[in-house]
Amino acid sequence: MDVSAQVATARAPAKINIYLGVGPRRRDGFHDLATVFHALRVGDDVVAERDDKGRVTVTVDAVGVDVDAVPVDESNLAVRAAQSLRRYAGVECGVHLRIVKRIPVAGGLAGGSADAAAALLACDAVWDTGCGKAELATIGARLGSDVPFALHGGTVLGSGRGERLAAVMAPVRLHWVLAVAEGGLSTPAVYGELDTMRAASMVPAPQVPPELLTALRVGDLDAVGEHLANDLQPAALRLRPTLADVLDAGRDLGAVGGVVSGSGPTVALLAQDERHANQLAAGLVDRQVCRDAIATTGSASGARLISRST
Ligand code: C5P
Repeated sequence: MDVSAQVATARAPAKINIYLGVGPRRRDGFHDLATVFHALRVGDDVVAERDDKGRVTVTVDAVGVDVDAVPVDESNLAVRAAQSLRRYAGVECGVHLRIVKRIPVAGGLAGGSADAAAALLACDAVWDTGCGKAELATIGARLGSDVPFALHGGTVLGSGRGERLAAVMAPVRLHWVLAVAEGGLSTPAVYGELDTMRAASMVPAPQVPPELLTALRVGDLDAVGEHLANDLQPAALRLRPTLADVLDAGRDLGAVGGVVSGSGPTVALLAQDERHANQLAAGLVDRQVCRDAIATTGSASGARLISRST
């Protein structure tokens, strides 16, 4: 019996790093990380439709984000994910992917990885490959360091280059505001800037502070805010000095804490509750320190199928 769908839609979350410790540059060019990944409610959808002629194509619909920055050729991470799965599972059928993009592009929110994770799940449904989530995560890890986390979701410890995941207890919902900057930052450029800034110093192995893990477990908002940290932040600030104004404005408007998300330039501000998050978002837009401000919550689930039809 053919159980594959003609069309399937998967949704995958944006992420922030509540903590991002970065070790020295490795021989393969990557850096060992000690991070706390946190999936957010805001996410992208990928609609996969079988293409019986064997083509793999993509289009992008944007919801309030800059669609021009998303490639629609073979370099698109969702296309690469579909092609990897197709090779791995020996599938001949093709697929058309439609990405419904809500995650700001090149913002340090792992939007490309979310699209890859959603594409893996949606293609798996239309091709009925029989791959489990663990296999999809292995395929995904080759595409980008954050893809396994986009499949997993929640709040988790990440190590290696970000692909090794371990559970964290974080039962309390957190309210965030994402201050979205005008234009993106290149992840390799930010890591490169950090290497330059560190050139003369010995870099220790990174470690997530145990106090942060305790704060997440017991839901101590002030302590979570206090321990938000990102080793890439000084490099992102060197490349985009105006991010300091966003962090200052957040503090002024009563944010519990603030940190550059991943390689930036998005700044994640921790709010006291939902009402405060909405006020904070409005205040940031009012002060014109960012292009847009998105109030959202975490943690959210990882990539999941939201619809399928035969
Ligand atoms: O894995 P991903 O494609 O997201 O990585 C993009 C770039 O970010 C890498 O080419 C590398 O320059 C940098 N990176 C790194 N160390 C990591 C993750 C990413 O140096 N752990």
